[in-house]
This record gives sequence, structure tokens and C-alpha cells, in this order.
Amino acid sequence: GVYTASATAPVNIATLKYWGKRDKKLNLPTNSSISVTLSQADLRTHTSVAASSDFHEDKLWLNDKLESIKSERTIACLADLRKLRKEMEDQKSDLPPLSTYPLHIVSENNFPTAAGLASSAAGFAALVVAISRLYQLPQDMSEISKIARKGSGSACRSLFGGYVAWIMGDLENGEDSKAVEIASAEHWPEMKAAILVISDDKKDTPSTTGMQSTVASSDLFQWRVKEVVPRRFEEMKSSILEKDFAKFGELTMKDSNSFHAVCLDSYPPIFYLNDTSKKIIKLIHNLNETENAIIAAYTFDAGPNAVIYYEEKNEKKVLGSLYEHLSSVSGWKDSLVNELNLTSDGSSNSDLHKGVSRIILTGVGEGPQGTNDS
Ligand code: DP6
Repeated sequence: GVYTASATAPVNIATLKYWGKRDKKLNLPTNSSISVTLSQADLRTHTSVAASSDFHEDKLWLNDKLESIKSERTIACLADLRKLRKEMEDQKSDLPPLSTYPLHIVSENNFPTAAGLASSAAGFAALVVAISRLYQLPQDMSEISKIARKGSGSACRSLFGGYVAWIMGDLENGEDSKAVEIASAEHWPEMKAAILVISDDKKDTPSTTGMQSTVASSDLFQWRVKEVVPRRFEEMKSSILEKDFAKFGELTMKDSNSFHAVCLDSYPPIFYLNDTSKKIIKLIHNLNETENAIIAAYTFDAGPNAVIYYEEKNEKKVLGSLYEHLSSVSGWKDSLVNELNLTSDGSSNSDLHKGVSRIILTGVGEGPQGTNDS
């Protein structure tokens, strides 16, 4: 027979960044991090898996393209999942020996890869959840997050919805390096995110390579991981529990800046922000100054794309301010533009729109879901 299962998993965007590994093979980080899980209505990976003794080898289709499973990271995840399944089979002899069957894996994103968004977090999270369901493993998301972590560090945070921490742990085998929920999406559902996709033809330094270089060469990095992040972690966690956006936003912007500062302090330096990114940073600071309060916060990962967090009650102010500069950019939901009564004569009063190719409006969302097979 053929045994099947499937799952979807969300994208997460860190507000306290993971940057630096103490173990490259196990993806063990040099600091704990915090992220917000984004709504799967807008951004998610859907993965279906099938196991059968009739299959000849493990196969993986990514967005309709057949890929051989040669990535060490994927192999590590499959090996961990099979080991757990095997232990169950050894205890219960009536279980079919799925751990010995080849797997066929079909994975699809509901957003274009060309949107320039890192999809590996959602991808590895969906993969491990789908297989853990197929294997009927206990659905303990923190446990499963340790397997996703080996696929991609940030993927472990996509195992929960809402507000998530990745606890760095200190064991050498990584058994205590896992994701935990700080608060559910329902705790603070008013959190929104605007993703500004920046057109950029330059190939960014892959995050793994960048991290290795920073750990090896930046002095500032030592200060960041020892002094700055541990304090900021506690403060950001409290700001989430208290739903204190001003505090949360300030810490988010400061941590994005700190991460890009250690990139610049690496030798040779690593640049992820471009001129458009920097203009967006200024625009958000101007907006907050005009409002005399922090109502919007930017954060940037290993590339020029901006993610702007804000609370729903400030949507009109934040989007209005962005719309002034970006009205010609695609991806605005027309209904929202009408609802918010955003007006522009179509001619942006800055050249900012030239660097932004697309805008995705989303918000905090739920964790992975098992889905019924079609
Ligand atoms: C800047 O999780 O992609 O987005 O563990 O090597 O797969 P690997 O790295 P990855 O790094 C993410 C770095 C970041 C910050 C973050 O998401 O915390």
C-alpha cells in the first residue's frame, strides 16, 4: 500500500535575529532569537508525503520540479524522523515498517519564489510536520522543531504560530536547542506586517556563509551575543506579553540594526541593505517622529527586503505613509486601499517606488496544520 499525509507551515520573520552558529552541522546558534509567525493565507508551504515499499528511492518535487534529495540538511531531517519511527516500530510489532520505505515528497509554496522571500523556514517546517504525521510520531512541536532546526536554523521557529522563541540551549548535542511559544496569535492578533519586496540583482551572501564569516572575524559580534541579545531577549519577551508595541517596535528596529552592524563589522564586510532599504528605514523613523510614538517598526534579514510591523489600529497611518511613496507598486489589496481611502495622484513624491517591486500585506498567524489529502 501507499501511506500518505500532508501539512502546511508558515513563514516567520525574526524580530530578534539568529546570526551565528556554535555548531554548523546541527545548526546550533550563538544566541536565542524571537520571531513572529505570519499568516498562512498569504505565505505558506504545503507538503504532501507518501511512503511505499513499491517506491525505489526518496524523491522530492519542489514547486513541480523534481529535485534529487542530495542536500545534507534534508538527509539529516529524514534520518532523524526515520530513527524515531523505527524506535516506535521496534516497540509495537504490528506497525507497518514505514521507516524502511522510500518517501515521495511534494512541496509547494503559495507565493512566488521570485517574490524574493526566504522560504526555507516554511519548507523545512512543512516537511518535518508532514512526515511526523505520516509516521504517527507524537505531535510535540518543540521536539519536532529540533529536527526542523537541522534543516535550517530559522525553520524551528515555524513550528508554532504567534510569537515564538528559539531557545539556544547549551548542550553539545543540541537536544535543548528548540522552539517554544511565547504567546499565541490570539494573544496579540492586531499585529500586522507589510513585506516590501525590493528589486535587487545582486546575489546576497548566503546566511550560513555570512554567519561563519561574522563569527570568525567580527569583534562587535562578541558584544552582541554576550551583552546585547540576552538582555534584549527578556525585554522583547515582556513587550510581547504586555502587548507594548512601542517597546516591541523599538527593540525590533534596534536588533535589525545590530545584526546589520555585525555584518558590516565582518571582514570582509557583508552588505545586505541597499539604498532602497535605507530610505525605508528613514521613512519609518520620520513617521514615528511625526506621530510622536513608535507605531511602525522595520526589520531586514539577509537581503534588502523590508518587513514593517504595525498594529491594526495604525494601519491607515502606516500604509498611508507608505502609499505616498509607493502608490505605483503592485500588491496592494484594492479593497484595502479603498477602505482606507488612500489617495495619491499616482505620481509618488519620491523615487522610492522604483526600488520596491511588490508589497505583501499580512499579519500574525497560526502554526502548522495537518491537511486532508486530496
Ligand atoms: C537573518 O535560518 O536561513 O534570517 O541555519 O544556515 O539555514 P541556516 O540559516 P537561516 O538564517 C536566518 C538568518 C536571518 C535571521 C533569523 O531568521 O533569525
